[in-house]
Amino acid sequence: MTAVAEPPAGRGGGLRGWILRLLARPEVQARAARLPFGRGMARREGAEIFDILQGFVKSQVLLALVETGALRALLDGPRAPEDLARAAEMPAPRMAALLQGGAALDLLKRRRDGRFALSRRGAVILGVPGLEAMILHNRAFYADMADPVALLRGETETELARFWPYVFGQAGEVAPDVAARYSELMAQSQRLVAEDVLRVVRLSDARVLMDVGGGTGTFVAAALRAHPQLRAMLVDLPEVLGAARPRLAAAGLTGRVTLCPMSFREAGLPEGADTVSLVRVLYDHTDETVRALLTNVHRRLPPGGRLIVAEPMAGGARPEPAGDLYFAFYTMAMGTGRARSAAEIGALCAEAGFDLRQSPRAARPYVTSVLVCEKPAVGRGG
Ligand SMILES: C[S@@+](CC[C@H](N)C(=O)[O-])C[C@H]1O[C@@H](n2cnc3c(N)ncnc32)[C@H](O)[C@@H]1O
Repeated sequence: MTAVAEPPAGRGGGLRGWILRLLARPEVQARAARLPFGRGMARREGAEIFDILQGFVKSQVLLALVETGALRALLDGPRAPEDLARAAEMPAPRMAALLQGGAALDLLKRRRDGRFALSRRGAVILGVPGLEAMILHNRAFYADMADPVALLRGETETELARFWPYVFGQAGEVAPDVAARYSELMAQSQRLVAEDVLRVVRLSDARVLMDVGGGTGTFVAAALRAHPQLRAMLVDLPEVLGAARPRLAAAGLTGRVTLCPMSFREAGLPEGADTVSLVRVLYDHTDETVRALLTNVHRRLPPGGRLIVAEPMAGGARPEPAGDLYFAFYTMAMGTGRARSAAEIGALCAEAGFDLRQSPRAARPYVTSVLVCEKPAVGRGG
């Protein structure tokens, strides 16, 4: 028997620390696995730890299913691996391995005759706007995460910093084709964000909504469609707004939207809005840029004016997977921003002079969380 009664001198954590050190000993694990209660717990923990370990294999199998077109091809009905292998230019046994992996992820169903069909989850992936594009975009993020310690030490020149060139703040340095590439990726997924924001934010008494960093106008268009009394101002870099014009025209909304091509870093924001939205904007930027932007917004709003902040947020005191894993490391790889918790964003808004009005529980934290603030009638921040 191993003596485990005394916490070793000089090691902290109290009783909990002592139990954790106990669990970290191989002989204790071996003994627990022989007891009925301990066996169940050890198995569950083991399976979950293995799942973390193989997380990157899961996401790479998903990438391959999308990139080879295999997932989409199955929309037309079940197919044999040999069939799909030809189109994907790979040996049939390799395609069979990919499809088998897809079935293990419950994205596909393996049939008795050896063919594979789409599962419900696989079909959902094809139906969610922008999801296939996000999955393909994961290639850049994956490359940046290849050496996570180097990334954490800031030693990596990342692909995501190249993908989002504006993060370092050079005015006028975003090439039009680069802006078009990131705007397209954002526009597709912005439909989901707009759904979640408009579900919780009341805009029925708003007159003019200014969407800052609004991209090609998907959020503005959704807000205008839902609220006939509303007009909008769309603020973004000139290279981005070029693509907004035809989109808004196609939606029949040109007459209700004023385009404001500018950098929010350079000059004061335009006047005239009673509501400002920052949708997936703050997490791209440093605290310094965020402070300046929030002060700028506060200055432009009238007393009683509202600020809507919507983006995936970190969990803060209650860490959560989307904000503290995917978005925390994604923004780290971008180089300047960070996923902040609702409390941190609320504190930055309060510093700029806003009162927090609404912080609803997010329906889909991996899509967005939302905060609503108000400029108080007697201003405190300018
Ligand atoms: C992550 S995208 C989000 C776009 C859109 N709000 C959405 O949720 O799809 C950030 C947006 O902020 C814009 N942006 C970045 N820096 C900016 C600046 N200095 N002035 C104006 N817009 C800026 C980018 O061009 C981009 O459209």
